[in-house]
Amino acid sequence: MESRLALLDGQFQPQLTKFGINHFVHVPMAPADPILSLTTGFRNDKDPKKVNLGVGAYRDNAGKPYVFPIVKKCELEIVNDPTLDKEYAPIEGVADFIKGSQGVIFGWDAPILASGRVATCQALSGTGSLKIVADFLAKWRKAPIYMSKPTWANHTQIFQAAGLEVRDYTYYDAKTKGLDLDGMLRDLSNAQPGSIILLHGCAHNPTGVDPTNEQWHKIAQVMKENDLFPFFDQAYQGFASGDLSPKQCEQMIQKHHIYMTGNGRISIAGLTTANVDYVANAIKDVVDNY
Ligand SMILES: Cc1ncc(COP(=O)(O)O)c(C=O)c1O
Repeated sequence: MESRLALLDGQFQPQLTKFGINHFVHVPMAPADPILSLTTGFRNDKDPKKVNLGVGAYRDNAGKPYVFPIVKKCELEIVNDPTLDKEYAPIEGVADFIKGSQGVIFGWDAPILASGRVATCQALSGTGSLKIVADFLAKWRKAPIYMSKPTWANHTQIFQAAGLEVRDYTYYDAKTKGLDLDGMLRDLSNAQPGSIILLHGCAHNPTGVDPTNEQWHKIAQVMKENDLFPFFDQAYQGFASGDLSPKQCEQMIQKHHIYMTGNGRISIAGLTTANVDYVANAIKDVVDNY
């Protein structure tokens, strides 16, 4: 046992070549990730009142990770599916998964899918997808990429590491705590034609500020005029927008007795643990049926 431990220990010592050179001695320690180091602090905190608001992940009432029942159900189905044979997936990914992702993202009967104009590639998470896109763009469409000011911190590093020049465009107005649309449109019209523009599909990270439908149309117009190439990072689809239509809102009141304004805005302060499931089911009903 001891000799085994000594052997393992040897693996973790700096590896020197026969000339005594350590190939990686010059590599500096990466800075600590601010969110993950919060989690370490949280784990080590013994106070029973502790709460972790750093990571965007669901927790149950005991503060433990909450796994959606549908996720568990699907996991069981996968485990019990005799057709899944654990063979290598094709390079672009598993065909059914790709088809399913397209349906969720674009809408199951979206004309763009029917016309075969969408190319999809399965990747590992959002970060892995961004890495593939960044490498692809760096190889095949070398142009500056503009990012909103501010944007998700890793965007800059991923695209810079791929070799693209990263620039920014005005987005957040600290005074109004909203979108600086004029500033954004100005920067987009002054951007170098042909550039890539990174946009957040919804639930902009970190500001939470999204353009309205009308503002999106204006943004699209300027991008078209200036020959800019839109690239959407859609990390939070279904978490922020997708407002109920006026008709669906009406059904929420008439059919389910849930009172809300016709623009689809919901004040979650009105929810309790007793009625949250009822409201969720009512939303599902009006989305499915109206
Ligand atoms: C805007 C944005 N893009 C991509 C990601 C990365 O997603 P994932 O955690 O699936 O790698 C995140 C995660 O925080 C994000 O906020």
